[in-house]
Amino acid sequence: MANRAVRRLDQLLANLGYCSRREARDWLDYGRVTVSGQIAHHVSQKANPAEVRADGEPLDHPDGVLLLLHKPLGLVCSHEARDGPSVYGLLPARWQRRHPQITSIGRLDKETSGLLLLTDQSELVHRLTSPKHKVAKVYRATLASDLPAGIGELFASGTLVLKEEEMPCAPAQLHIISPREAELTLTEGRYHQVRRMFASQGCAVLTLHRPRFGHLGLGDLPAGHWRELPLGEFSRV
Ligand code: URA
Repeated sequence: MANRAVRRLDQLLANLGYCSRREARDWLDYGRVTVSGQIAHHVSQKANPAEVRADGEPLDHPDGVLLLLHKPLGLVCSHEARDGPSVYGLLPARWQRRHPQITSIGRLDKETSGLLLLTDQSELVHRLTSPKHKVAKVYRATLASDLPAGIGELFASGTLVLKEEEMPCAPAQLHIISPREAELTLTEGRYHQVRRMFASQGCAVLTLHRPRFGHLGLGDLPAGHWRELPLGEFSRV
């Protein structure tokens, strides 16, 4: 894996969120970093992350991170502080300082809860958000009015064109649970897509929750909690 590559100690510590590159000098001066059991003295020393210890501990996830988060309502998927409380605030402080940054694989709106994947693997983000790979995402919506007749057929037809767009939405499966509740399975992720698809048929979405992403479900993971996934979890997608 790319992160296993031999790297300068200051770069390694900074990229994994331990300290800035400038502070790395102090870490080494205080003898906090060893390589293959020997105290390191030069920030320019290159090392394999597997052989480095910081304060006697192996480095924190040097190969990367993949997390399954149960996103609660009220948090945004944004790294910009001005956008308000964010899902990234749920992560350990050191992880919030990593480079590459941990980002969400696609986004959920502030007022949507459910399964959100987070990773620092940009290739995985591209693969899982590309409509080409047709990863199914399931959304459960409650609606302000009864679902109109024929809406399931329309969503499945691949002909629905959303406002201010030209390309029709890819075929999507609607499973009607009751007149004002349904599950919609999408293989793409356009801006506010679920809300806009229902709105196009006169139905305002009252609540929206994503219980599934690809082969993964939330299980009994409480809102605001996450669990780690193996980096190879999607190797067959
Ligand atoms: N569609 C939406 O409208 N909102 C989401 O958060 C996800 C999909």
